[in-house]
Amino acid sequence: MDKFKILGGGPLSGEIRISGSKNAALPILAATLLANSPVTLTNVPQLKDITTMNSLLSSMGVKINGDASNGYVLDSNDITDFTAPYDLVKTMRASILVLGPLLARYGVANVSFPGGCAIGSRPVDIHLRGLEAMGAKIEIDGGYIRATIANSSSRLKGTHFLMDTVTVGGTENLLMAAVLADGKTVLENAAREPEIVDLANMLVAMGAKIEGIGTSSLTIEGVESLHGCTFNVMPDRIETGTYLVAAAATRGRIKLMATSATYLEAVIFKLEEAGARIETGDDWIALDMLGKRPKAVSLKTAPYPAFPTDMQSQFMAMNAVAEGVSHITETIFENRLVQVSELNRMGAHITLEGNTALVTGVERLSGAPVMASDLRASASLVIAGLVADGETLIERIYHIDRGYEAIVAKFQSIGGSVTRVK
Ligand code: UD1
Repeated sequence: MDKFKILGGGPLSGEIRISGSKNAALPILAATLLANSPVTLTNVPQLKDITTMNSLLSSMGVKINGDASNGYVLDSNDITDFTAPYDLVKTMRASILVLGPLLARYGVANVSFPGGCAIGSRPVDIHLRGLEAMGAKIEIDGGYIRATIANSSSRLKGTHFLMDTVTVGGTENLLMAAVLADGKTVLENAAREPEIVDLANMLVAMGAKIEGIGTSSLTIEGVESLHGCTFNVMPDRIETGTYLVAAAATRGRIKLMATSATYLEAVIFKLEEAGARIETGDDWIALDMLGKRPKAVSLKTAPYPAFPTDMQSQFMAMNAVAEGVSHITETIFENRLVQVSELNRMGAHITLEGNTALVTGVERLSGAPVMASDLRASASLVIAGLVADGETLIERIYHIDRGYEAIVAKFQSIGGSVTRVK
């Protein structure tokens, strides 16, 4: 299995182009199941998770042409299979996102029940309860969610549904189901993540009627059918944030292109608190630490627009070498401070109390062999490796390949010594 070899060094410096958003592209790819003519998607990142979603759609009979650099054209008019098999769902939980679209357009879906994962138990009860409220009949059989439409009509029914936890995937699944339902659906306490806004804009481009986009109350007037469209996926705000933090931790300066500060307010605010000078334009963000050591910043994760859980571990790596003491509290996933023990192996001073990590900054970390455990935790180990003395070897980097396009080339282009070794 491949590993990353990282040699800690000086400040990162240079310019990087940010890729399309993984977490927007995944639901958008699933939403192509709703269209009765081909959909063209551009700015889809080249990542393992995207390949998995494309394999899943192909296995159902979706015809996919094109590639990541020129755009994909997806035609879902000849679907022959309504199953998301265990083999694919176990490698990518976001496969659950085909449930809503399949049910809404074809009245049937068999999706392997996603299990827990390294960062927590991650139930899908809200996805299922919302679909039931829209008239779906759901059975769990042989490890599969078998969904059909309960009434004799072939369409889901509009409903008023309050999600008792803010869920990104749940909001996306129910939104994709509601756009083809009969009548009006109101989704209350909806997640407001920018990726949901991107999905909603794509659905509108396909002919969907959605009000309240970007708010916690979405009103959807179901339509009979949706047509194809051309859509450009938004930039990846988590990839953007990861490179900003890497530059800050190494006391460097960086300019990120093809991205936007609009969706990164909470992250940029914390970086400024850490001492970064930040400038932004329409499609770029620049960070300069002016050669200084970052100051420790405390934070607490929460649904958008608050601080994103997907950026928590990267900030922990920066705080590990920052000046001062910080508290990092994780409120979204129960086991998402998994990187703590690996960072401590590299000389960090981090103690855990429940869902809060107390980080006492040290001058330098020391390189060590470490193990990646999930996508974002692996990003924190790369950042730690870049600020450590000597060599860090990261195992199980397949986690990082799920979500960071061309990470080795991108880090090398700004002076980071990151190589992939067999
Ligand atoms: C998405 C993102 C992930 C991010 C997370 C939170 C994708 C592909 N993934 O994951 O990167 O970290 O949002 O911003 O976009 N929950 C329930 N019942 C449900 C659904 C969720 O209790 O039916 C709980 C989860 O266990 C978790 C919380 O709600 O504690 C938030 O999860 P959710 O927003 O659904 O995360 P994902 O959509 O899986």
